[in-house]
Amino acid sequence: MRSHYCGLIDEALIDQSVSVCGWVDTVRLQSHVAFVDLRDHEGIVQIVVERESEEAFRQVSGVGYEYCLRIEGKVRRRVSANDKLRSGQVEVLAGRIEILNKAEGLPFALHENPNEETRLTYRYLELRRADMQRKMRLRTRLVSGLRHYLDARGFQDIETPILTKATPEGARDYLVPSRVHPGEFFALPQSPQLFKQLLMVAGFDRYYQIARCFRDEDLRADRQPEFTQLDMEFAFVGERDVQDAVEAMIRHVFKEVSGVDLGGPFPRMSYAEAMARYGSDKPDLRIALELVDVAEHVRHVEFKVFSAPANDPSGRVAALRVPGGATFTRKQIDELGVHAAKYGAKGLAWLRVDDLAKGREGINSPVAKFLDDAALDGVLAATAAQSGDLVLFGAGDYKTVCDVLGALRIKVARDLGLVENAWKPLWVVDFPMFEYDAEAKRFVALHHPFTAPKIDDVADLQANAANAVSRGYDMVLNGNEIGGGSIRIHRTDMQSAVFELLGIGAEEAQGKFGFLLEALRYGAPPHGGIAFGIDRIAALMAGTDSIRDIIAFPKTASAQDLMTAAPSRVPDAQLAELHVRVVEPKDV
Ligand code: AMO
Ligand code: AMP
Repeated sequence: MRSHYCGLIDEALIDQSVSVCGWVDTVRLQSHVAFVDLRDHEGIVQIVVERESEEAFRQVSGVGYEYCLRIEGKVRRRVSANDKLRSGQVEVLAGRIEILNKAEGLPFALHENPNEETRLTYRYLELRRADMQRKMRLRTRLVSGLRHYLDARGFQDIETPILTKATPEGARDYLVPSRVHPGEFFALPQSPQLFKQLLMVAGFDRYYQIARCFRDEDLRADRQPEFTQLDMEFAFVGERDVQDAVEAMIRHVFKEVSGVDLGGPFPRMSYAEAMARYGSDKPDLRIALELVDVAEHVRHVEFKVFSAPANDPSGRVAALRVPGGATFTRKQIDELGVHAAKYGAKGLAWLRVDDLAKGREGINSPVAKFLDDAALDGVLAATAAQSGDLVLFGAGDYKTVCDVLGALRIKVARDLGLVENAWKPLWVVDFPMFEYDAEAKRFVALHHPFTAPKIDDVADLQANAANAVSRGYDMVLNGNEIGGGSIRIHRTDMQSAVFELLGIGAEEAQGKFGFLLEALRYGAPPHGGIAFGIDRIAALMAGTDSIRDIIAFPKTASAQDLMTAAPSRVPDAQLAELHVRVVEPKDV
């Protein structure tokens, strides 16, 4: 149908006959000549139709935006070049125009930016845009770069089931009812975790898969209900083996796909240090601001908001110095308070340093009156606050204070332009094995229940569960967790003990994970691995905040596909066949 792509027509083709196919990006009709910008996935070329070519001129007079055309013509030099286009030195003088398909008036013009609902309903139109085409190509290059890298290193690409049994990764499962087994359900995999471990038991040694994962969880810009992992597993390894291997791989694809050099060995930081300094287990190291503990300076004050957590071993009182933050208006500070509340803060104490030399007189703060001189001086010294700075406080239980100040750190840095333009990868290591869920009154796994503890002895682990450290690790880039993994438990006794600590009794463990416990009995090798979020890596490479931008057909924040209108009701007969009845939610 065509001899060349629109976007690739260039000076080398001058005087040659070509045929091109594509969509009408713009059309300008004049009395003796018409210009069409014809677009395909490679770009745009200018088509010229002269009145002398009667049939072609008649055809072009009837075309509109996004008509799908085939054009035969001759390439010639353009009178006025367009340096923005690759094809900008030339044009195609049309001899013949074939309308392959008309286009009705579009719901939005491609250069417009309508709301997300409209864009996702007509995603196939949004995807015609050059920037979306570029993003999807980048994603293709990323995936193919990873595949080539791993294929060349002896990794086997093995598919694992989509219809399977629940593998817990901390989210809810998407369930699929079984028609032939009434009342029984498959779960879509939250990850291929258990299958990849069984592949190591089976002797495959090095595995990878570009795997679709499904998680029914609260959605954010960096989370979709279905997303893609580069899932990997290695037999006979320790954490350093896995980390070194995948760090080299990530460095390679960033170079190859984006021309980005991620630099020397990625720094390592313990979970405890990351929380203490940055209030986050995925610190954005492009931001220099750090949290400072000030409990020791406010332990003695009357102000209970500070002194209570300062004297509580599970509490934290910390401060964040915002350089130049005194320029924030009261309204902006109130907005920071609203932001803090989203992360669980009950309030946001702050202190503005107008003139440090003036002592208390130079401080503007709703809480200064609660702080005696020792406390005030102590806090100012600890944060090294200068005139012109704002100091924000978090007080409460340790985790909440980290979440709140961690989030404020990012917000103020963005607001004040304090985010360095750089790539800052790191490994976060030494995660706690368990987190205590006060509501459920039991431990939950910080990674997943198959992560090995550093303690190798079952009795030791049972005695020290609250403080146990895991063999898990996350790769973090510019504040995004792009990958997470661990060395796994490969012994039945340890796996059973961890289930028990997680409140999964022997019977339940047998019912849910009996196949794993049994497999570990037959000579399972030590093994470990990791999974990377392909969508997140592609989004970082593309410079976008939302992974929706680099997924061809993403779901909305309320987990719907607007284009196909899924999920949707199904006929009663289909439900009956599946032995399923719908219980309508009560009016809310
Ligand atoms: P984890 O749950 O950390 O680990 O997931 C691995 C990586 O997948 C990405 N990711 C997501 N991306 C988009 N939307 C989501 N809802 C979403 N959830 C996770 C993140 C994350 O780092 N089985 C383990 C891996 C292992 O232990 O080997 C697992 O799934 O980038
Ligand atoms: P209150 O005594 O609750 O009115 O709070 C006095 C000041 O402390 C106000 O400026 C609050 O915003 C702030 N504040 C209250 N709770 C906290 C908290 N948990 N962390 C930081 N500041 C708080």
